[in-house]
Amino acid sequence: MIYLVFAHPYPSQSRANRALFDAVRDLPGVEVCSLYDRYPDFDIDVAAEQAALSRAQLVLWMHPVYWYSVPALLKHWFDKVLAYGWAYGDGSAALRGKGCLWVASTGGTREAYAATGIHERPFGEFSRPIEETARFCRMNWLEPFIVHGAHEINEAELAAHAASLRERLQAWLAAHDGRAGLPP
Ligand SMILES: Cc1cc2nc3c(=O)[nH]c(=O)nc-3n(C[C@H](O)[C@H](O)[C@H](O)COP(=O)(O)O)c2cc1C
Repeated sequence: MIYLVFAHPYPSQSRANRALFDAVRDLPGVEVCSLYDRYPDFDIDVAAEQAALSRAQLVLWMHPVYWYSVPALLKHWFDKVLAYGWAYGDGSAALRGKGCLWVASTGGTREAYAATGIHERPFGEFSRPIEETARFCRMNWLEPFIVHGAHEINEAELAAHAASLRERLQAWLAAHDGRAGLPP
């Protein structure tokens, strides 16, 4: 029901994304793929990825922001998996109507992503290529879940972000499957 694409080049060194990933990976109906663990040589199994996407109603792209964008393997995943004749073009739209939730962390603080901040513009301006990638594939772009200041927030703040993400997915699951999100 939910396909979580996790793209951290060094999963064992991650703090922010690891906390977010661990908070949601065990939810019912969540299928995960840690891209750098599964495809260390960048040789993506396109058919397997497209099959996983076909099974999903909600797709998560979770990663640290690198150079205002996605880590290289997630960009490669976009290039290979969101293929012409499948995701878009020639009358095809395999992802049409599926939700897309972008979950990302930044080293920059919220203040750094302001007109007067070091990054000179709101973070939303950097999200445009990701958003349009989803929209071009006719996906339903949801409000992104962004954790700013990933190196500065303390453990309690990070745990609160992780809990918030879990609650958001539980709410989505409950809304899309009456049984999901409830105690067994
Ligand atoms: C190669 C590289 C590029 C980065 N580019 C950015 C960037 O453009 N903007 C930003 O706010 N942080 C940037 N960062 C900081 C990362 O986003 C930050 O380390 C990450 O979100 C922390 O998450 P983690 O604990 O899961 O690794 C960059 C870090 C690296 C290593």
